[in-house]
Amino acid sequence: MNGIEIFGTGSYVPDFVADNDKFSEILDTSDEWIFPRTGIKQRHIATDVPNYYMGAEAAKNALKSANFKAEDVDLIIVSTCTPDFFYPAMSCLVQKRIGAVNAACFDVNSACTGFITALDIAYNYLATGKHKNILIVSSEKLSQQVDYTDRASSILFGDAAGAVLIRKSDKPFYSFLGAEGDEFEALYCKVNYRTNCPWYGDINEFYENRFDDEHKQNYLVQDGKAVYKFAVNAMANAVKNAASQGGYDPSELDLVIPHQANLRIIEKATELLGVPSDKVYTNIEHMGNVSSACIPICLNELFKAGRIKEGMKLCFVGFGAGLTYGAAVMEV
Ligand code: COA
Repeated sequence: MNGIEIFGTGSYVPDFVADNDKFSEILDTSDEWIFPRTGIKQRHIATDVPNYYMGAEAAKNALKSANFKAEDVDLIIVSTCTPDFFYPAMSCLVQKRIGAVNAACFDVNSACTGFITALDIAYNYLATGKHKNILIVSSEKLSQQVDYTDRASSILFGDAAGAVLIRKSDKPFYSFLGAEGDEFEALYCKVNYRTNCPWYGDINEFYENRFDDEHKQNYLVQDGKAVYKFAVNAMANAVKNAASQGGYDPSELDLVIPHQANLRIIEKATELLGVPSDKVYTNIEHMGNVSSACIPICLNELFKAGRIKEGMKLCFVGFGAGLTYGAAVMEV
């Protein structure tokens, strides 16, 4: 059986905390509105470091937890939808900071589904034997895209990074990835290229939303209700698909670690699956939504707390811009 083993975890969480009261100072909102609808009390904001710095710190912590040398990592996959640069890939910047001189590097962007996508790719590389010790870094600085005049979206997101080291094992691993590109305008951040190419015409006809409005360029734009509706079923379907590949019923999973977008979404989706709440891990109250970094940060918290025990069946599930969704089930 081809599977994976997680042999190191780490995270980096910036110091600055924006709690719900801080949002009341800049927007017409309140803890009474935010907490019951989202489960969020606070998020961290990287006010003085770039995204790749957070990713590198999380990576260093993962290496330290495994007592593993950076030189022995042969592939770095970074998942991010909030890179500091269009290029180079953020994985190259992480490689430089941690000294993983023997690693190949690339990034993946499936937004909040990024960690599961990276895990799926890593699993396949390990299965073929192409790479042996893979570092996945999921690092997100949403604050550089969030529109802090939009009270319906800005209150959801934070900044942080998580990292895991993985290698091949003979334990079961199953994964599923899906996408509904038709729905992409439910959640996007349109790049405003500052081109001075003199021959450009108007390309707005390619989009339902027109991008003449400066507020729809470079900012995160969200139709919260559309995302909510998609998320509940997408999460439930992804878990069913990944679990059924191993012949498991979702109720047999020992621990579900979902993408931390909204506590209400998590509760609804896991209720649909028949997974009791004590088998669902959340940290959304103090972290908010840190996109693809949510799941590896949760994993790091769980490993540190000694809550991951041999033989457990873990499930990771997420969704995000794309709209993408996915799940992975693994035995520890
Ligand atoms: N504080 C106070 N009022 C707010 C508010 C806030 N932070 N955000 C929105 N409102 C108001 C709106 O202005 C609107 O008021 P109106 O009826 O007077 O116009 C009302 O609340 C309803 O707004 P709406 O945007 O429809 O809210 P909602 O019930 O859909 O809740 C979300 C908003 C964002 C909490 C919810 O849609 C959601 O969580 N969606 C999923 C988003 C998500 O997970 N994104 C990440 C994907 S990876």
